[in-house]
Order: sequence, then structure tokens, then C-alpha cells
Amino acid sequence: MTTCRVCTGPLRELADFGRQPLSQAFVRPEDLATEFFYQLVVGRCADCAMVQLMQEIPPDKMVHEGYPYHPANSTVMRKHFQDTATRWLETTLTGPDPFAIEIGCNDGVTLRTLGEAGVRHLAVDPSGVTGVPVHRAFFNSESAAEIRAEHGPADIVYAANTICAQPDVASIFAGLEVLLAPDGLFVFEDPYLGEMLARTGFDQIYDEHFYYFTAQSVQAMADSFGMRLVDVERLPVHGGQIRYSIARRGSRLPSVAVKELLAEEEAAGLADDTTFAQFVSQIDATKDALLNLLTDLGDKGHSIVGYGATAKSATTANYFGIGPDLVPFVCDSTPSKQGTLTPGMHIPVRPPAEFADPYPDYALLFAWNHADEIMAKEKAFRDAGGKWILYVPEVRIV
Ligand code: TYD
Ligand code: ZN
Repeated sequence: MTTCRVCTGPLRELADFGRQPLSQAFVRPEDLATEFFYQLVVGRCADCAMVQLMQEIPPDKMVHEGYPYHPANSTVMRKHFQDTATRWLETTLTGPDPFAIEIGCNDGVTLRTLGEAGVRHLAVDPSGVTGVPVHRAFFNSESAAEIRAEHGPADIVYAANTICAQPDVASIFAGLEVLLAPDGLFVFEDPYLGEMLARTGFDQIYDEHFYYFTAQSVQAMADSFGMRLVDVERLPVHGGQIRYSIARRGSRLPSVAVKELLAEEEAAGLADDTTFAQFVSQIDATKDALLNLLTDLGDKGHSIVGYGATAKSATTANYFGIGPDLVPFVCDSTPSKQGTLTPGMHIPVRPPAEFADPYPDYALLFAWNHADEIMAKEKAFRDAGGKWILYVPEVRIV
């Protein structure tokens, strides 16, 4: 693909991470022969500055449908979604009989919290989630029209870790045009390119993260669909995200935070090719340091186990070349991942109980976005003399 998926401007290549498997395609040993690979290349639009993948995965290859949704199993994330809902109850959803929509509703915590407070709510998700009402469809003008006819306009349309995964943003904005109330808000949160570059968070780059947003590129995207970026908020979750609020043009004024973040991005050279080239050389430095460390520890006879079979660790393992020779297995709390092999590098996935049976000398924390929570939960590992290996923002043992 050589043109921007948002504005059709010319795409310029920024980095090539080589041949990669789908990040959530955990394989059963009998299915290894049919594993799908693609080329993970990131580019930037010369017109609207949107950073995006240069190859779109054919929808029939994407594993969403037919595969169970994998919640992060994180109490921190559940609290994050509860707090989000609680804040809206105090601010945005204070009008008479408000109505909230969530696109791709994670494990439904946000909507359930709104529902407990008596707010009308609906998830729009093709696969569906139990415990909240679901309109089983992709969010677009067609599903938006059906929802509007039945429930009326939406005061909030929310999406977490969803919009960055939707190459066809035009269909999302077409749905908003139909469904959003005149003063309604489209609120979405996704990994922030600024944070990825600042912390060498390279493993956010994988098939399901199609877009790598900045305030600049989101503002351009909103403008191009006749809407306006009116607020931004930094979120500490998943290694650094931004929550963007978009409104119909003329309905709200942009906050000071928008202006400040745009200025910060400009000062940091976030849209400069040299800044991205620095990011790539830092990634390669991380690769060398981590491979050296793992090889060295292995040579000295230390045992190493992976912790958290995350989607993002597909990029780490495959780009760096970390397989069962360096990390014999990875433990993960998701039952459907247990007993499978990680995509591409084929590290066996085992239940967390095997982590303690016996404890390894070192644990490579692939789920570094949940570091505090996992380290607290696995306190006995450290007490037994075990050490964690982290690699974002840099390789270190803690
Ligand atoms: P997630 O945060 O969704 O990251 P990604 O989007 O990169 O997949 O995934 C976290 C993974 O870590 C998930 O497979 C569950 C696992 N996990 C544990 O095994 N134990 C834990 O305590 C936590 C919080 C997560
Ligand atoms: Zn563009």
C-alpha cells in the first residue's frame, strides 16, 4: 500500500520489521504448516502525518472472528474502565436520559458501570460480549442508522484500543455522522506514538495496531471528516495512551490541552523522519542488549521463563529472534492460550501455576504493561531470589 488509509496522500516508509505472524494467532502444534505471515512495515502520510502500517491484513486472515476475545485479566484495567464510566456520570452524561455506545467493548466494564447507574447503553461489536446489551455488527453508517432508529442519538460513543485497529476509519466517521447527538462526543483511546518514541515502546507495533496516533494526525483526521478534536488526555495504561475527544464542528471549543500537546509534539519533532530513525536505532540497541543478556544468562546455566503471552510480544520475539532455545516456555493466565505455541517463534504457553514449579532464576516480562500488578501478584518469586527482565524503555534486571 502506498497511499494513506485516511486521506489517500502519499505514504513514505519509516521502518521495516520483517516477516511477522499475526500477533494473536497462537498456534496448535498440528496447525503449524498453515501459519500466516506478512511484512510488518510502518509508514507516514506526507499530507496528514498519520503513521500507519503499509500492509493491510486481509480480513479473512484476522483472527478476531472465531477466536475468543482475550481480556487482559488485569484489575488495573478493570478499575480504569470503571473510573472512566464514573467520571462521565459526573460530567458528560448528566443530561436527561443519556445514551452511551461503546465500539468493541473489551470486557464490558465501562458499559456495565454506566448501566448500574441507570444510564442507557449499548455495545456495538460483531463478536459480542456477555453481560451488556450488544448490537452485533461493525460500527458504520448502516449499524448506526439501525441504532438511532431504535434508541435515538448517542451522547457518547466510546472506543478503547479499537480505533487504531480499524483501517477503515471513514466508515467509523460515517457512523458517527448518523448517530452522534449534536453536542455528543466521540471518545477513543489508543497507544500514543509520542510515548512509544519517548520510551522505545516498539512492541506496540503489530498487525492489530494499524494506526499510531498523535494529536496532530488525529486532528487532521477529525478535520477531514468534518469534525473537530476538542480534548486530549494522557492515560498511564498500556505503556502510555492518549484519550482523544472529537465533537461535531461548531459544537465545542478545543481545550487548552489540545493546543499544549500539539506544541509539545512540534517541539519533540514527532513528525520528523530523523526522530523516527532514532527510534529505530534504539530498537536495534534494545535487540542487541536483550539477546546478549538472554544468551549470557543461558550460557551461565540460569533458567529463564517468559511471563505474559501478549500480542505485543509477537513483535519482540519475532523481530529479535527469541524462541524456545532462549525462553523454553511462557506462562499466561488466559486459558485459551495455554497449550498453544506463540505465533511465529513457537514458544509453548503454559498456565501461571507452572511458573512456581519450580521458579526460574529469571522471568522475561513480555506483559511489561502490567509490571506493577504482576510483580505484586508474583511477590513470592522475588522472595525466592528470582529476578525480572524488562526491555522497555531499556533492557534491565529488577
Ligand atoms: P494485554 O495487556 O492485552 O496485552 P496485548 O494487547 O499486547 O496482548 O495482555 C496481557 C497478557 O498477559 C494476557 O495474555 C494475560 C496475561 N496476564 C497474565 O498472565 N497475568 C496477569 O496477572 C496479567 C495482568 C496478565
Ligand atoms: Zn494522510
